[in-house]
Amino acid sequence: MLAVVPPPVIVRAPAKVNVHLAVGDVRKDGYHDLLTVFQALSLNDEVTVAVADEPGIEVVGDSAEMVPADFSNLAWKAVEALAEYVGRDPKDPKVRVHIRKGIPVAGGMAGGSADAAATLVGLASLWKLEIGKDELADVAAALGADVPFCLHGGTALGSGRGDRLVPVLARHQFHWVLALDHEGLSTPSVFKELDRLRAEGEPPRVGAVEPVVEALATGDPRQLALLLGNDLQAAAVSLRPALRRTLRAGVDAGALAGIVSGSGPTCAFLCQDGESAVRVAAELSGVGVCRTVRVAQGPVHGARVMSVEEAP
Ligand code: C5P
Repeated sequence: MLAVVPPPVIVRAPAKVNVHLAVGDVRKDGYHDLLTVFQALSLNDEVTVAVADEPGIEVVGDSAEMVPADFSNLAWKAVEALAEYVGRDPKDPKVRVHIRKGIPVAGGMAGGSADAAATLVGLASLWKLEIGKDELADVAAALGADVPFCLHGGTALGSGRGDRLVPVLARHQFHWVLALDHEGLSTPSVFKELDRLRAEGEPPRVGAVEPVVEALATGDPRQLALLLGNDLQAAAVSLRPALRRTLRAGVDAGALAGIVSGSGPTCAFLCQDGESAVRVAAELSGVGVCRTVRVAQGPVHGARVMSVEEAP
């Protein structure tokens, strides 16, 4: 009798921006304690997992050549981790992973973490696992600090390494313009640069998180714009001084405010509404300060299996 092979599963994996990112001290494990508010944005990778005799991983799309298409990819580590967790052979999981990049690579928007989260969600469906959200979040946290949020989506307060999450109410949709840089920045080097700046002096620190949570609850972009903050921004700008010009150009183009997204170098600009975001994006792309621009809104769902109608 022929075995029935389940059809491939396609998962949409959203990017994130940190609307507030407070970085604490470096810990014994090399990570920094964080207090951060994440928001998932409508800028996606698409991850397909399929049963295959020959295991492997392919990456296509924007800047795909910069992503390892081998077993060092975090998405493959997700395959191995979940296989091990459910008692399958991690060395021969009989799957292929296909990633279509839309999230900037090494851009401070959790692209690699989003792919790992999407792989977990996709495999849970492909393998018909009876696995709870909390269990999947534990597997996710072992893969990287941002992976649990990429599963969770929406808007959330993260503490610890950024992996302990509490949902945050965000009323309405917020409209963002993202300025993508020509080259990525490595997250560890940006954290290291912040440590260096702090050893030398006192780079600016973000304020309290409570007003940010309140602004998200009101849904007023003007109120949130005044409160956007990222402790890693000084470090990203120190490593990539041209970001100063990009940040200015977004505001000159009509954005309410701009910040470096996570460890950068992508800059995220909050806009009054969808129409304003389209205008800002058009103007910013004409100034020549970045490689390309994208418009996105948030919050959106975390990594989710796409329905048959949504699938390409
Ligand atoms: O967990 P992930 O692999 O995404 O983190 C990448 C790097 O970013 C870590 O190795 C560490 O250097 C830095 N990091 C940190 N503190 C955090 C999160 C990340 O220092 N809370």
